[in-house]
Amino acid sequence: MGRWCPTAAARQTTAPARRAGGRRQGRRQGRRGERSGGRRVAALIDNAVLEYEDAIDHKPAGGVTDPAPRPPAPGVPALSRYPVPTPRPPVGARAGAGVRARARAWTGKLLARRIQKRGIDLSSLTFIPERTKVPLQRDGIDPVPRLAELRDQDPVHRLKLPFAFSVYLVTGAEHVRAVLADRDSWSNDIRHLLPGAGPSSAEEVGGLGFTDPPLHTRLRKIITPEFTMRRLARLEPMIETIVAERLDALAATGSPADLARLVSFPVPFQTICALLGLELEDRDAFARLGVQRFDATAGAAAAFGAVSAQREFLFDAVARQRAEPGPGLIGQIIRDEGDRISDVDLAGLADGVFTGGYETTAGMISLSTMVLLRDPAHAALVRDGSRADVDRVVEELLRHLSVVQLAFPRFARHDLDLFGVPLKAGDVVLASLSGANRDPRSAGDQPETFDPLRRPVSGHLAFGHGIHRCIGAELARMELRVVLPALLRRFPDLALAVPQRELSFRELSFVYGLDELPVRF
Ligand code: HEM
Repeated sequence: MGRWCPTAAARQTTAPARRAGGRRQGRRQGRRGERSGGRRVAALIDNAVLEYEDAIDHKPAGGVTDPAPRPPAPGVPALSRYPVPTPRPPVGARAGAGVRARARAWTGKLLARRIQKRGIDLSSLTFIPERTKVPLQRDGIDPVPRLAELRDQDPVHRLKLPFAFSVYLVTGAEHVRAVLADRDSWSNDIRHLLPGAGPSSAEEVGGLGFTDPPLHTRLRKIITPEFTMRRLARLEPMIETIVAERLDALAATGSPADLARLVSFPVPFQTICALLGLELEDRDAFARLGVQRFDATAGAAAAFGAVSAQREFLFDAVARQRAEPGPGLIGQIIRDEGDRISDVDLAGLADGVFTGGYETTAGMISLSTMVLLRDPAHAALVRDGSRADVDRVVEELLRHLSVVQLAFPRFARHDLDLFGVPLKAGDVVLASLSGANRDPRSAGDQPETFDPLRRPVSGHLAFGHGIHRCIGAELARMELRVVLPALLRRFPDLALAVPQRELSFRELSFVYGLDELPVRF
């Protein structure tokens, strides 16, 4: 987890633009040494995107529709309902940076064409393109202002990327809900972007989130019974025990202490291990892989590498339990389904439950504590309020924090019209849950404010929507409902030990969170 703890110096340079600039430079330097062996294609793709971004990158003046237009990606039709005018030389060229910028633009286009010819292997990308970062970037706990601009002016926004398909960032609540609800138009199957064998092969990705019906329906049905309110109620005493033990550990460590390490991570981790019936050995290694797979700073390659290592761990667990089914979910499924479920599918299911249920809830516990400590009235509502008060606070925390920043990518099954924007079969939609949850048309007045008394126009989308809606939503709510009041009751003087600006917020993670939360009490 150390890689998530930036130095104090790094924390002082958190402005998104400076971060992006620094990383871009770092990537460029790092890539020089990468051009041998198996990473050549990755380097080629990365460089092409990088050069292309450099060539076309400039700040849009006056909103989302650029008065100084960028050229559309070669071969990518200009589909946005905001017309893309005739390509002009990039800004650098117009400003006099001239020949170099033109040469870069030309190189970028050339290389981008090569990508399109060869196809793209998502698992080889060693960084994520600049333009896809907006929905992952935050300023403290808030999404960056650019996300709200996009939602207001271009809620189905085409990201200009040099791929053979178009990628759209969808930010409006109505738009996101519509995509997630429409299983006939959208597929979650990502395999066409992960060609070939090896650590990124299709079968190793699996899991519910990347699966379509009928397989998705069959797999989801197998685990749904474990997540009914009745079954979950049986877990509540266990969660209370885990929480009490972790609070003891916090007290024993003494003030100041790291709440993330002592409480936020172990509570959901131990809960999920118990739910699945996993042995707790190897937990450190496993926990580390959980963080890496949501980390986009090193691109898709690192994330998929972590997926495969984590999956390996689960394959072993499943194989062991085939011989001797344990008391948890894995053992139960083996007893119920026998050979009707393969090890691959079972490991995928366990993996989805584990990963879905660990980082997400850990992020929520840390960030929620931070938010509640900002206002004594909010902390008091959780510490002394009724169950209904706590439920209301938890719902608002889920909306406000939106720790899962993007839903699983959705691929258009056929040509379609999305709120006036024509999409082609194979185009991708990235549905921004943090954008949707701050949409005033859904959240109501002052969507940027944390307000447990808010009267939203419609429910939040923190758990997604439709057939892939989070299966662990009730478990997550239960954990938050247990841990937050217990923490604030046990430590009535709890406070942050450092100013908020010094906290180690994740930089580019699909699941937002804090790696450390120093508190005093
Ligand atoms: C606060 C905590 C959590 C949040 C914010 C959250 C959020 C989400 C979101 C946004 C999705 C994707 C929806 C989509 O793309 O349509 C999802 C899917 C999923 N989540 Fe969660 N989750 C949380 C906790 C959990 C827990 C505790 C578990 C398991 C114990 C879990 C297991 C899953 C699984 C298995 C899926 C895939 C469902 C499917 O594709 O059918 N999550 N979650």
